[in-house]
Amino acid sequence: MSTNTTLGNITTTLVHAAGSPSAEWWRHAVIYQVYPRSFADASGDGIGDLPGITSKLDHLARLGVDAIWLSPFYRSPQADAGYDVADYRDVDPLFGTLADCDVLLERAHRLGLRVIIDLVPNHTSDEHVWFRAALAAGPGSPERARYLFRDGKGEHGELAPNNWTSIFGGPAWTRTTDPDGRPGQWYLHLFDTRQPDLDWTNPEVRGEFESILRFWLDRGVDGFRIDVAHGLVKAPGLPDWDGEASMIEGSLDDDGSTATGDSGPMFDQDGVHDVYRAWHRVLAEYDGDRALVAEAWVEPLARLVRYVRSDEMHQAFNFSFLTTHWDAAALRAVVTASLAASDEVGAPTTWVLSNHDVVRHTSRLGLAEPGSRPNGIGAVDEQPDEQLGLRRARAATLLMLALPGSAYLYQGEELGLPEHTALDDDLRQDPAWWRSGYTERGRDGCRVPLPWVADAPGFGFSPTGAAWLPQPDSWAAYALDAQRGTRGSTYELYREALRLRRDFHLGSGSLCWVDGSDQDATTRVVAFANRDVYVVANLGAEPIALPRSDTLHVLLASGELTTSDDGTILVPSDTTVWGRLG
Ligand code: GLC
Repeated sequence: MSTNTTLGNITTTLVHAAGSPSAEWWRHAVIYQVYPRSFADASGDGIGDLPGITSKLDHLARLGVDAIWLSPFYRSPQADAGYDVADYRDVDPLFGTLADCDVLLERAHRLGLRVIIDLVPNHTSDEHVWFRAALAAGPGSPERARYLFRDGKGEHGELAPNNWTSIFGGPAWTRTTDPDGRPGQWYLHLFDTRQPDLDWTNPEVRGEFESILRFWLDRGVDGFRIDVAHGLVKAPGLPDWDGEASMIEGSLDDDGSTATGDSGPMFDQDGVHDVYRAWHRVLAEYDGDRALVAEAWVEPLARLVRYVRSDEMHQAFNFSFLTTHWDAAALRAVVTASLAASDEVGAPTTWVLSNHDVVRHTSRLGLAEPGSRPNGIGAVDEQPDEQLGLRRARAATLLMLALPGSAYLYQGEELGLPEHTALDDDLRQDPAWWRSGYTERGRDGCRVPLPWVADAPGFGFSPTGAAWLPQPDSWAAYALDAQRGTRGSTYELYREALRLRRDFHLGSGSLCWVDGSDQDATTRVVAFANRDVYVVANLGAEPIALPRSDTLHVLLASGELTTSDDGTILVPSDTTVWGRLG
């Protein structure tokens, strides 16, 4: 759709029409990701837990988010920080108990916060009862048929069944040892050795996960974030593939097209959609607009939105947006393409800049190539410019929160928290670090425990001052209590943005690109209107003038604005402004 409209004296081109603010909550919600081990620790062992989260829910309600998504807290040996689940129906003692979870849900709902939990269906832990039984039962057994066990190639089965590599580095196959001590079959793991992939052609696997969904829906969760949603079904015969195993292909081209998106025989197979159609029917049996969110690193966007067709999931993370560099033309292209692709299937677009798998956007945007996405940053790597990164991150967030659709925040970004970029390598816990042969530092730097109180031991993360990863001293300045009530702080900026977003119904709003002279400066300016809020992001090196209009009133800015001699308001470099039209 593309029509021209005029708002005040500003001419715009409509690319996405407004919806209704009373539509299902997940169409426009701001969803805050809680990474349990690093959010807040009540027990004092230095690892965050469910009672810790419950104790801080009022912080999230006050911040103004609509929902929280909890990364896994299930029983797990923690080989991949809980994304290796040993029991999908229980809470790991590290994080508390099922009763703690009930209390969290009850308290969150009382505060008006919805709760989404993480479901990990692509693989289990090697300590899951099914995998143990599979090892014990031997080749050809129904127990092995729940996973992807295969005989090896070569004269003695000494070669892996195919050439796939693990996302974390190294081969995607591990050979088992039979009870008599002799080398046995191999099993597939797209991630760590301790995360065996399930066989989703097996009806028993499908039945089990529908039962797990019901277990949590009955307890009152509002939805599920589906881990590696594009990976469950593999191409028949598990054919060799010469591409690089990766969770992301790259960002959009300037014209809005994405990579051709052949992510290999392990990802984005058509059969996966049957699984989500079945799950959609399970959720539909429950009241309250329960939702499924796809973590599917799939491109192009036309492939991604297949996961959110009306009888499948409800949302999918927009990683094309996350991976777009700090470039106005590229951002405009990805926004247009995202809205168009989602509109095609009647789903909301989502927006996300940070999560527990990527370098925090404050730090990505402070790199020489702003927005590039290294897999972790260590002390010997290029260090981001912390001030510049924060400035850009605030601008990027304000741009994102003005867009129609649902937005995801990652814990700590409301504090402007940077990546820990100088973590001692000996402390790293992400399996990607050793599986990559110590070449990729991995994700620990974005998972460091949050600072709550500037002058408390461990910044108030834990009553004992313990923290499973050390926090840099400089984080005192980022602590919540140093920012709450402080004019211009990142926390107050987020809070005000979320308030305005709610008041102006931006989540269910429209998107109209602003036409006019600034459009020529394609690499510098992103300017749009959503309902009657006018948004300008200046990505260029020079200040730009806001249109002179009696009907434009500044609502919020990510940095200080200046006024020129003739009264024109100037938007400095790397700054986003929201103004009210009319
Ligand atoms: C997802 C998770 C990531 C995890 C991986 C394997 O990408 O977000 O943290 O390591 O799946 O479960």
